[in-house]
Amino acid sequence: MAIPTTCGTGSEVTWVSVITDVDRKFKMSIKGSKLYPAVSIVDPDLIITLPKPMIAATGLDALTHAVEAYLANPATLITDTHAVKAVGLILGSIEKAFADIQANARQREDLMYGSMVAGLAFGNADVTAVHCISESIGALYDIPHGVANAMFLPHVLDYNLPACTRKMAALARTTGIDAASDDQAAQIFIQKIKDLSKALEIPTFKDLNIGSDQFPLIADMSFKNNSNASNPRDLGPADYRNILEAAHGPNFSGTPQQRNRYGF
Ligand SMILES: [Fe+2]
Repeated sequence: MAIPTTCGTGSEVTWVSVITDVDRKFKMSIKGSKLYPAVSIVDPDLIITLPKPMIAATGLDALTHAVEAYLANPATLITDTHAVKAVGLILGSIEKAFADIQANARQREDLMYGSMVAGLAFGNADVTAVHCISESIGALYDIPHGVANAMFLPHVLDYNLPACTRKMAALARTTGIDAASDDQAAQIFIQKIKDLSKALEIPTFKDLNIGSDQFPLIADMSFKNNSNASNPRDLGPADYRNILEAAHGPNFSGTPQQRNRYGF
């Protein structure tokens, strides 16, 4: 039986579990049909006391699941349907849930529902290069998983855009973005995700103080991740290094207290 107490993993409907081997600094996804819960109880009131950083981190993990599932190579009509629904539910609720999860019952429910439906999407499609990077960084530096996803999602979307412009634009338009060209719609969507991370006070990659001498190791681990093959645009270690460089922009503009919430 699975009873989620965050709004992120979707484990209640997936066959995935994640274990970090802290000695080997390796984060592994273990998948198998026996990992499907026989019964899941998804009760949004269980996240009523979730601290704000956990709402932001796990909610953005769920958003990443949905966006990546939609753009992943193994996506199907069924996973696309779940992914679009999840993106709509999460984008429509996360900011109010973050502002006051106790007062906003409807948004609390939508966010929890979105996280579960995103699980149905990526559990039957896959994730892509964002999770390849976040799992590598999470294993090496113990960074909260959803925070790492939020840092890299827009940059991976930027990289993937030429390979899936039409599909990314279609996803953007389901969220109400109205633009003349597909390229423009997708660009607005990417900017929307950047703005959302900022609004939810997510630190930047630069705040992790990871030296660029570590980028080859992170890139190599990301490339070896099982989900690399699901990314809509081929990418090798050099492409991962470029994405890491691109994400290594300015520091977070928020307060030190906001940054310290995540332990760095
Ligand atoms: Fe995830």
